Amino acid sequence: MRKMRTHSASWRAAAVVASVLLVGSIAACGNSDTGGGTKDDGKITMGFSQVGAESGWRTANTTSIKDAASTAGIELKFDDAQQKQENQIKAIRNYIQQKVDVIAFSPVVESGWDTVLKEAKDAKIPVILTDRSVDSADKTLYKTFLGSDFVKEGKLAGEWLVEQKKTASGPVNIVELQGTTGAAPANDRKKGFAEAIAANPNLKVIASQTGDFTRAGGKQVMEQFLKANPKIDVLFAHNDDMGLGALEAITAAGKVPGKDITIITVDAVKDGMQALADGKFNFIAECSPLLGPQLMDLAKKVHAGETVPARIETEETTFTSEQAKEALPNRKY
Ligand code: AHR
Repeated sequence: MRKMRTHSASWRAAAVVASVLLVGSIAACGNSDTGGGTKDDGKITMGFSQVGAESGWRTANTTSIKDAASTAGIELKFDDAQQKQENQIKAIRNYIQQKVDVIAFSPVVESGWDTVLKEAKDAKIPVILTDRSVDSADKTLYKTFLGSDFVKEGKLAGEWLVEQKKTASGPVNIVELQGTTGAAPANDRKKGFAEAIAANPNLKVIASQTGDFTRAGGKQVMEQFLKANPKIDVLFAHNDDMGLGALEAITAAGKVPGKDITIITVDAVKDGMQALADGKFNFIAECSPLLGPQLMDLAKKVHAGETVPARIETEETTFTSEQAKEALPNRKY
């Protein structure tokens, strides 16, 4: 009997150890609140869907995200959507299937995300919006939005122009190169700029069209603007790359960029800053692409179940030609 008791005691002990081990391994394999991708090594896996590689800004943003992930010890699954919303939705669905711990993405356009965001929420995978936001009414579909205030950027560009043209007695004709149709920075920069120039009725946007945030787009649309409008005084381009493309069209049309046509852009990437320092651009509102370190920090926090602010705005400035000359030697992107 005694022997029997000893046996059943050791079976019970073995069963307790086994169930502790089982519970432990389930907890390590699947994190019920923050997604199911945590592996035994405890490493966080992030699925990131990038807009594309349309501009110098985007290239710098991708580098910042990849570098920051490796510094933070976060395993990054990266997808380039080539400026197509359907590719982003596909990538996000793949990340859900792979049970990553966190999904982050920069939405190419503002609308049409509710269904896929709901799928991520149902799978208990937290989503972080970075760079661009979405127009979903349900703010619980994502944890936070890290990025610039694009309306402010457009406003700063417009306010600078209002100040420059405050003594203008006749009409000042402005052409506008918009970013990708439906993208938050295109919508918001247009809005901010329009609001600011409303202060001077002489300032008129005579043509406004998308150049898709690319150099080729900027060049092509500027050529059309120049053909259709004999008097263009100002170009407002929603990013440096379109402004740089437009420079070629302006020069080819026999005009001097920065003198015959005042050029205002957004971003302040190195090539844009060089054009500004050279007097070919006149003013840039900065938009920082260096979002990687803050994004990884947020990923760790949301994965740990911490509450993070719903909106984190990037700190930015503006540049005149003189300021660009000073800043260029230390410019990181
Ligand atoms: O969303 C940020 C914008 O996207 C940048 O201003 C532009 O260059 C990029 O393509």
